[in-house]
Amino acid sequence: MNMAVMSTPEVTSVVSRDRIVCFVNDEVSAVALRKGLEGGNLSIRRGTIRNAIRMLETDTNLFALVADISGVDDPFTELERLAGVCPPDVRVALIGDSREITFYRELMELGITEYLPRPITREMVMDQLRPKFLGEAPTSQPDRGGHVISICGAQGGAGATSIAINLALQLAETTKAKVALLDLHLQNGETAVMLGVRPGPGLRIALENPMRADTLFIERAAIDINERVCLISADEELHTQLNITEAGVRHVLGLLRQRFNYVVVDVPVPFPPSIRPVISLSRHVLVLLEAEVTGLRNARALRTAVTAIAGQDRVHTLLNRAGRAGGLPMATIVKALGEPDMVIPDLGKRMTEAVNLGIPALKHAKRLRKYLAPIVREISGIGDEQKSRLRRFFRL
Ligand SMILES: Nc1ncnc2c1ncn2[C@@H]1O[C@H](COP(=O)(O)OP(=O)(O)OP(=O)(O)O)[C@@H](O)[C@H]1O
Ligand SMILES: [Mg+2]
Repeated sequence: MNMAVMSTPEVTSVVSRDRIVCFVNDEVSAVALRKGLEGGNLSIRRGTIRNAIRMLETDTNLFALVADISGVDDPFTELERLAGVCPPDVRVALIGDSREITFYRELMELGITEYLPRPITREMVMDQLRPKFLGEAPTSQPDRGGHVISICGAQGGAGATSIAINLALQLAETTKAKVALLDLHLQNGETAVMLGVRPGPGLRIALENPMRADTLFIERAAIDINERVCLISADEELHTQLNITEAGVRHVLGLLRQRFNYVVVDVPVPFPPSIRPVISLSRHVLVLLEAEVTGLRNARALRTAVTAIAGQDRVHTLLNRAGRAGGLPMATIVKALGEPDMVIPDLGKRMTEAVNLGIPALKHAKRLRKYLAPIVREISGIGDEQKSRLRRFFRL
């Protein structure tokens, strides 16, 4: 998207929350679905789970998906790819050849809504899919919320906002998933400025009073940065008294986690008590510091605070602007904090130029991409054992 377009605030289009898209390869299945789901907003296409994945990379405007896995050699590999691009609130049913109960159970455990073995009939669709897809009976949806990643700067200017923005963009680009960038600095927040957009409305009200935020909140508040990344931020007057509540924070995060595969949060430090749910729900909390005495001291305190809320395994120390002239030597940092989990070197003036141009640093300081890649890998789980990765995508 070019910058001229980006500078106009764009509200995401309202989604068709009832659309059901089916990818099946045989006429018998197509007829059974057409009849069994009659009256629904149905679109039946030729194809398999692979075609569904391709569609979801650019179009996630749907309520439910039916995908054929028959003939697919390794359905779990395809499911992993599907989970990476499918919004958590989309219901997914599969059609396949296996009649093994263990296979069925595995799929249910992953958060698949239903599995129907071929040949499928109108009755099977009526009995098993219709109630779950056309809302005639409640369905017990396992928790398939998106991953929360919190970015916290140990000292002012450590680069938290820069890393949050560019991590969100690179995460979306690499995984093809939907990513929300949530800026919880409601006053003086810098994400929107750095991206050259104006914040959408409603975030403060939603955070203060959960009763005021329904599912349309996202349609109103989220600004499209590109086809996969949205920004949710505010620009409240400095004299405004904010009354953010823990319930409001939980609610907003819950709504975002239903729609996006990842939620990257630019977290104010020290965190107000109302923001603690963000930390406790985070899968990754990045504590950023620069090689300065203040950074060292604050990073220790911040890691202790995060560990107390979320647990030790969630905290990652990121040394930013490493090697910057005048900074503390690496040995001093390692002695005080241990080996940093992630390191991004000082990338020079192009980073600051990007801020002043209102464009993401990734586009201006291209070396940043290389240093973000291992962080994206850590977050998206690429390289992990397949099954645990699947579980992480489908249900947290
Ligand atoms: N690795 C880097 N190399 C060079 N410059 C960087 C790097 N990371 C961030 N910067 C620059 O440092 C400045 C501060 O970054 P940023 O605003 O992201 O920090 P912050 O932690 O969000 O600050 P604040 O405490 O104000 O919220 C910006 O000009 C940014 O371009
Ligand atoms: Mg900032």
